[in-house]
Amino acid sequence: MNISTLKVTDSRANQIDANNIQFGRTYSDHMLIADYEDGHWKQPQIVPYGDISMSPATSFIHYGQSIFEGIKAYKNAQGNISIFRPKDNWERFNVSAERMAMPHVPEDIFIDGMKHLITLDKDWVPTSDGCSLYIRPFMFATDEFIGVKPAEKFRFMIITSPAGAYYSKPTRIYVQKQYIRAFPGGIGFTKAAGNYGACMLPSLQTKQMGYDQILWVDGLEHKYVQEIGTMNVFFKLGDKVITPDLEAGTILAGVTRASVMELLRDKGITVEERPLSIDEIVAAHEKGELREAFGTGTAAVIAPIAELNYEGNMIHLPAEETWEVSSWLKKELADIRYGRKVDTKNWMYKIC
Ligand code: COI
Repeated sequence: MNISTLKVTDSRANQIDANNIQFGRTYSDHMLIADYEDGHWKQPQIVPYGDISMSPATSFIHYGQSIFEGIKAYKNAQGNISIFRPKDNWERFNVSAERMAMPHVPEDIFIDGMKHLITLDKDWVPTSDGCSLYIRPFMFATDEFIGVKPAEKFRFMIITSPAGAYYSKPTRIYVQKQYIRAFPGGIGFTKAAGNYGACMLPSLQTKQMGYDQILWVDGLEHKYVQEIGTMNVFFKLGDKVITPDLEAGTILAGVTRASVMELLRDKGITVEERPLSIDEIVAAHEKGELREAFGTGTAAVIAPIAELNYEGNMIHLPAEETWEVSSWLKKELADIRYGRKVDTKNWMYKIC
């Protein structure tokens, strides 16, 4: 695919303060844009990062046909840049696209476009441990029409942003039973904008109560754990690590989730993907078998949980020094990503 490129005259990369990177606040020099019209994708363009203008009638603003992905690029000690499992995100993006009646984005736009963009903005990939370049591909409906119907015109874009640690300390979690994130038959398995929009009010209320994130439960029985904030969730009960299964279509198939399960199984740890009720977690806690709990996601990577508030009862997780699984996973993933360990699984997609 031929990608037209208009470069900035002066890069802003030297303005990054490597010791103070705030997630999602600064964007690198360039962005990619590709438009879909009359049933096909036009030639993508890489242009200087900046505002885009659109009609107030642009359909995604009104009806939410809008999806995104989150991916990270890492720089190793030799200065080489690789992206973590981008093809898995590309596949998941197209799963989201299908559910939202949007066109597939072909590999030569999504993956090759990302490769071009990051090669151009390579000075934006931070070098320090725990830091990366967060890559945000997204697509939205661009019909200038406020009648309710699936759109025919779409725009795909990629922007990137240097990222440091998402959570600085273990999280305090509130188990939410009043609001529900996703239902069977809905869009819980997609990275559709509306999934995140619907969580803003509960998340605001949770923060006002002094908690970092919500532990969502299922919408039918209000007892099976689903996700934590915007992450997948894992509990270590006794010697087993348990994470909710994806059967009902209410949970995102996380790329970090899949990587974590593979690493744990390779290490000989039993991982179960199955319905996990909050009652089972409480019972394990009462028996002293709730050993660890953590969220996994692209942005936060591994986010250990310090405590859970379940209907006013506090469940305190054992002290950080005892966490074997989450600490090991954090290090193992970092070693693979920063090239300190041989990438036997071919997870790192080399860019330059
Ligand atoms: C992720 O961690 O995978 C996310 O998508 C988080 C993002 C919504 C900030």
